[in-house]
Amino acid sequence: MAESLSLFTGSEVVIVTGASSGIGAATVQRLAQKGVRKFCVTGRNEQGLCKTIDTVIREATNKPEFVTVIGDLTHTQTIEKIVEDTIKTFGKIDTLINNAGWSYGIASIFEETIEAFQKTFDLNVKAVVMLTKLCLPYLRESKGNVINISSTGSVQNYNNLSFYCMSKAALDMFTKCLATEEGKNGIRVNSVNPGFVDTGIHERCGMPRSAVDELVERCKNSHAVGRGGAPEEVANIIAFIASKEASFVTGNITMVDGGLNCYNPL
Ligand SMILES: NC(=O)c1ccc[n+]([C@@H]2O[C@H](COP(=O)([O-])OP(=O)(O)OC[C@H]3O[C@@H](n4cnc5c(N)ncnc54)[C@H](OP(=O)(O)O)[C@@H]3O)[C@@H](O)[C@H]2O)c1
Repeated sequence: MAESLSLFTGSEVVIVTGASSGIGAATVQRLAQKGVRKFCVTGRNEQGLCKTIDTVIREATNKPEFVTVIGDLTHTQTIEKIVEDTIKTFGKIDTLINNAGWSYGIASIFEETIEAFQKTFDLNVKAVVMLTKLCLPYLRESKGNVINISSTGSVQNYNNLSFYCMSKAALDMFTKCLATEEGKNGIRVNSVNPGFVDTGIHERCGMPRSAVDELVERCKNSHAVGRGGAPEEVANIIAFIASKEASFVTGNITMVDGGLNCYNPL
């Protein structure tokens, strides 16, 4: 249901990658509740994207409009189509949310293949840089902002997820570099770094459900608040950072992790 406190005017255009599930889907929903009406949503899973759109349309009172781009972000054509279709339909871009990401492979550096390293960096780093670069001229015009969905793994290593953690560390440095370079052009750039959120990503990355259940149990000790997070708790912070309310926030690595980054396993 739409809320009375509107963070947006309704004229903003927001691109959300990986909008077909989890944090991306919750972000589209939250932004719509806060007043955003114009979205470009992307992912490979058409059914998932339709579900995201249906949920927003069912709740909305303000006639939201959607551009949908179905495709793999490691393919240049998909990235180009996202920008082309958004501009063709809406004529501008205010916020780019680089949310799509995951880990190809769960193993030690000794055991993992170099292909897994390459694929993880292609999605979590290269695709983000390419899409952001294509959006920059439009973001300069709109004095817009970029939000990169990173991870607490950017500052602490997770067992058998080294390439993923390395890619998120690179993503955070991209946030800082771009924020520094583009601040004078009116563009803000921030990372949002979730702790454990049970979105299904862990199974999709190859972890058995029993291992995910163990992780959920371990959250009672590893997260200061004694639990993992919900997609909506991350989406709330993304929506705030995307809004003008956060006009003095840039170059920030924003832990949304129930205190996981303070955890000392010793
Ligand atoms: N859940 C957590 O515990 C956690 C913790 C820290 C950080 N994060 C980060 O949060 C972000 C969202 O993850 P989530 O937990 O919400 O998981 P999720 O539900 O699996 O979402 C990942 C999204 O990325 C998209 N995606 C994956 N590979 C893609 C590709 N090659 N091309 C295009 N889209 C692709 C997926 O869309 P399709 O399947 O439609 O392609 C999906 O919508 C990720 O960047 C993840 O690293 C998650």
